[in-house]
Amino acid sequence: MPQPIRRAVIPAAGLGSRLLPLTKAIPKEMLPVGDRPVIEHTVRELVASGITDITIVVSGGKSLIQEHFRPNPALVAQLRADGKAAYADAVQEVGELSRRGHITYLDQHGPYGNGTPVLNAARNSGDEPMLVLWPDDVFVAHVPRAQQLIAAYNATNSPVLALMPMQPGDSQRYGVPVVKEEFDGGLLRITGLVEKPRPEEAPSHFAAIGGYVITPGIIDELREQTGRWTGAGEIYLTDAINAFAATRAVYGQVIRGQWYDTGNPLAYLTAQFAAALADPDYGPHLRRLARDLDPADALVAG
Ligand code: G1P
Repeated sequence: MPQPIRRAVIPAAGLGSRLLPLTKAIPKEMLPVGDRPVIEHTVRELVASGITDITIVVSGGKSLIQEHFRPNPALVAQLRADGKAAYADAVQEVGELSRRGHITYLDQHGPYGNGTPVLNAARNSGDEPMLVLWPDDVFVAHVPRAQQLIAAYNATNSPVLALMPMQPGDSQRYGVPVVKEEFDGGLLRITGLVEKPRPEEAPSHFAAIGGYVITPGIIDELREQTGRWTGAGEIYLTDAINAFAATRAVYGQVIRGQWYDTGNPLAYLTAQFAAALADPDYGPHLRRLARDLDPADALVAG
């Protein structure tokens, strides 16, 4: 029986450069999608999937994330005293996520690259499998994406990558898996990942999105990579996965659900727009606005 997955890492130390100037002072993880910051969607997904140890790896300028999840009993009491029970409940519930997910924060230390936050978190986690979720991707799914990944890990006892079908023209934005075998339920055996290939060189029509079950063997590969690091270059999870996959099994799980990337302006606006349109209170008004708005009347910074 595979070791149960209790831990998750959310790397949140990035600069959010693709969303500047919006992210000059506000961490990109704190931008709203619907009425929640984007990282709260990820934390909710993890808590709903039974994860009880969430590490958010941060850098300077990210304290708003901590502030958001920190319980604030004084504010809750004030809102209750003012008769604003719905707001009090909403604030209380966010603080409870922190307790239920046992969120801790870690400063990122080490070479650039997305392998470093994983390694930082692994220092405190011993040799356990864990989930790694980039906070850029949000899902609307009947079964949370994290749970779909855990189910694939339980079935295979191997590292698992979250995959989504992609348009061929998108291959240069993602890691693209080399597929060896397809099983029922969207489970794929893969032999590696090609990072951001040209469309004609893409080995499959799937994109690796920001979700992984990482096993101790992958952590060992990251440690080796970091041990060899000479001061130049970055430490990538993809390199560790490829090194592992050279001799051992790695799987991909095609996620069932609607995927929203929020890491670039168009994708972010799409996620925000879709959330707004789906809102039962505000959606109908926004649909009319989208139909009737004269762009000349829209608020755009000049
Ligand atoms: C990273 C991974 C890539 C993956 C992508 C998903 O790339 O290296 O395999 O497809 O995240 O967002 P990045 O976007 O950080 O360059």
